[in-house]
Amino acid sequence: MNSLCHLPVKIAGIGAYVPDEVLDNARLEQMVETSDEWIVKRTGIRQRRIAAPDQATSDLAAEAAQAALRNADFPAKDVDAVIVCTCSPDHIFPSTACLVQAQIGAGNAFCYDLQAACSGFLFGTAQGASLITSGIAENVLVIGAETLSRFTDYTDRGSCILFGDGAGAVLLKKSDSESELLFAEMGSDGSRSGILNINAGGARNVASEETVREGLHYMHLDGRDVFKLAVSKLGELVESLPAKSGVDMNDISLIIPHQSNERIIRSLCQRAGLSEDSAFMNIDMLGNTSAASIPLAMEQAIREDQLQRGDIVLLLAFGGGVTWGSMLLRY
Ligand code: COA
Repeated sequence: MNSLCHLPVKIAGIGAYVPDEVLDNARLEQMVETSDEWIVKRTGIRQRRIAAPDQATSDLAAEAAQAALRNADFPAKDVDAVIVCTCSPDHIFPSTACLVQAQIGAGNAFCYDLQAACSGFLFGTAQGASLITSGIAENVLVIGAETLSRFTDYTDRGSCILFGDGAGAVLLKKSDSESELLFAEMGSDGSRSGILNINAGGARNVASEETVREGLHYMHLDGRDVFKLAVSKLGELVESLPAKSGVDMNDISLIIPHQSNERIIRSLCQRAGLSEDSAFMNIDMLGNTSAASIPLAMEQAIREDQLQRGDIVLLLAFGGGVTWGSMLLRY
């Protein structure tokens, strides 16, 4: 059974960070054969943020984590665990989470990375909630952070238009109110790992002159296959949600989907029988920031009063692995 229900855990604070540099469609038009019109029509993306040369994933993650701790009015030294969800870590090891710990001064925390690509934040939140309800930790910082621009081939128009950099973080704590994690379902299919991956730089294809010459250190994306699989898996998750969770779709105030493609998100709303306004979207401004996209969107939705305490929010994700998941939270 890969679902869990009614865990008394709340988001005590949330924070976000995006780098200053903007990469808009007009600039991409100068780099590859594409057009603003094509990109907007096929993806909904108008611009993305790109990390500065001296910034890596841990720097973005630390900024978001500090913002979440300020939001919760909670000292870093009291954090019990730091989970960084990322597929663009600073290094193979040490973990990006350990680097974040040092930057923010969370000296009493245990820290590790979680790799589920674009589904990372959803998997990480489920794990953080489990650590709290099992009694292993009292509070957990869950951070989704990526610098996918470093692994993007800016000569490949099929992928370079999609991705941006950023980080979002939540501080999870035991809930003493109606806030709770109502439901989570997660899944994976390793037999489809080849449709979205970074081939070289790990133990299978160690970095070499040849791997660099062939561009195997860049992200490889079979866009059409990922698109079809994402629509079908996310559609299944949404359709089975009421029966599995016991929650009526009409009681959901907001859907926060992973920001992968506006067309994927619109088709999901249709399948759920919900209006397209039910889904929060900021893909136009940030592109696909992988594991960072859900917490970045949630932070903005809260800031803009589109998500309020007591509301039920549905998180949906699909990503490399392939991995997927749905989660219901009473915020
Ligand atoms: N500009 C202009 N034309 C482009 C282009 C671009 N940036 N990228 C691809 N094309 C062309 C293709 O070469 C193809 O031309 P052809 O018909 O002459 O062969 C045509 O547009 C259609 O290509 P296709 O790949 O079928 O387009 P698509 O509608 O599937 O859109 C993606 C491509 C990548 C936007 C879309 O598949 C997608 O968003 N996939 C999901 C990717 C994703 O989010 N992955 C991350 C994990 S969630």
